Formats: sequence, C-alpha cells, structure tokens
Amino acid sequence: MRLASLLLVCLAAAFSSAFVISSPHMWTKLILTHHWPETFCTMEQCHPNISYWTLHGLWPDKGNDCNSSWHFNTSEIEDLLPDMEKSWPDLLNPSSSKFWSYEWHKHGTCAARAESLNSEHKYFSKALELYHKLDLNSVLQKFDIIPSEKYYSFAQIEGVIQNFYGVTPKIQCANPSKNADHQLLGQIEICFNPDFTLLDCEKHVPMKTIPMRGWDDPMGVDHPSGFSVCDNDVPVYYPPLS
Ligand SMILES: *[C@@H]1O[C@H](CO)[C@@H](O)[C@H](O)[C@H]1NC(C)=O
Ligand SMILES: *[C@@H]1O[C@H](CO)[C@@H](O)[C@H](O)[C@H]1NC(C)=O
Ligand SMILES: *[C@@H]1O[C@H](CO)[C@@H](O)[C@H](O)[C@H]1NC(C)=O
Repeated sequence: MRLASLLLVCLAAAFSSAFVISSPHMWTKLILTHHWPETFCTMEQCHPNISYWTLHGLWPDKGNDCNSSWHFNTSEIEDLLPDMEKSWPDLLNPSSSKFWSYEWHKHGTCAARAESLNSEHKYFSKALELYHKLDLNSVLQKFDIIPSEKYYSFAQIEGVIQNFYGVTPKIQCANPSKNADHQLLGQIEICFNPDFTLLDCEKHVPMKTIPMRGWDDPMGVDHPSGFSVCDNDVPVYYPPLS
C-alpha cells in the first residue's frame, strides 16, 4: 500500500516535470487588447484627448495575480516610458503609473511564467513591440474605418481586421442603452501564440474565463453599461473625439 502510493507520487513528480509546458497553470494564448479612449471614457468618466487606439493590456489566457511579491517598479522600464506614456496611457489617471502597475500584477506576473516574458522589462517591451507591429490605427484608417458620425456595420469592421491580419479578432462594444439603435466600438483584441505568431481569438469566451474587474472589466455588476462582444446586427458607432 505504502509502496504503491510512493510510486504514484514519484510518477506524478516525473510527469509534472516532463510536461511543464502543458501544466494547468501555463497559459497558451496571449491577448493584446486595445481600447478606444473616447468609448472607454464615456463609461468611466474621463476626458480623453487622444484619438488613437491605445494599449489596454497583454493578457495570458490563464491566471490572475500570479505573484503578489513581484512588485511593479517603474525604474525597470525607464527606457520604455516615453512609449508607454504615448501608447499605453492611463486614461483615468494621466501621468500616473497605476494602470501599468495594475496590469503587471494582474497579468504580467502570470505572463512571466514563460521565459520570453519573465521580467517586467520583457513583458512591457513585448507588449509595445506587438502593438507597434500590429499598427491597428493605420490598418483601420487605410481601409476607411475612421471615427465618424456615420455608423459602420459590424461585419465591415471585423472584415477589415480579419482580412488584414488573417486571424479573427475579438471586438467589444458598449451599448449606450438597452434599446439603443447603435453600439459603441470599444475594444479590439488580437491574439497570439506563445511564440508571438498570430492566432484566432475565440469569439465567445466562456463567462468564467472573462477575468476582468475594475479597469479590465467594465462588465461587473457595478458597471451595467460595460463592454461586451459586439452584436453582429447592431450598427457600430466609432466615436470621434468630442
Ligand atoms: C493629454 O492630456 C494629458 C494630461 O492632461 C497630457 O499630459 C497629454 O500631453 C495630452 N496629450 C495630448 C496628445 O494632447
Ligand atoms: C515571485 O517574485 C519574486 C520577486 O521577483 C521572485 O523572487 C519569486 O521567485 C517569484 N515567485 C515565483 C513563484 O515565481
Ligand atoms: C527598482 O529597480 C531599480 C532598477 O533595476 C533598482 O535599482 C531598485 O532597487 C528597484 N527598487 C525596488 C524598490 O525594488
């Protein structure tokens, strides 16, 4: 009996070390999330002065707050700060590093389970690199998806992104009210494999894997008008800076 259970323990140990990559804690997908400041600020009481898609985060598909003792330290990303301020601004607290600290603790410490992202600098510089490589702002503009008073069809916006990148994005909208005749374009997610090649995002993420609260989740009960996956049949408003 004893020997059998000892054997089991050994086997389990051997297995877990042999299959580190597929361990249940290891993420298998990265989600690069962009948000549209004007839409974000209609929900969150801020006053954007930015008319381009900014970074919201780089999220592994598994895990939240993976290492509470790994504190965010601005000095580690000193060289990235000018780009961070431009590409990844904190829309709620301009010129603060709160947003970055929040994203680091919640998502970065989990992303850091992969060697390619196992430092604060690697994590933030990779997110910036992917953001610039995708260059979503130019792509939308190039295909005439520009902020305007006219409405777009959801298929048109999704089609442009899908055709250009060759993968399915996840696009989220905000509904101004329950029976509104339009929805506001709010968030665009593009997904990556662990080797940073493009990957289809699942369109309908099961509820329990939507990891967000506060910044990441304007969908909580206290935010009834938050983002959700856009409705295919409702016209999309891509609001210009007001
Ligand atoms: C937007 O406003 C913030 C805070 O007031 C300021 O630091 C930043 O330079 C402004 N950005 C632009 C593009 O005007
Ligand atoms: C958590 O972060 C601390 C500080 O960087 C580090 O020393 C420790 O090894 C990390 N723990 C895990 C489980 O990664
Ligand atoms: C923050 O990072 C800098 C540069 O790596 C380091 O010198 C400093 O000790 C760190 N501060 C803390 C509180 O860990």
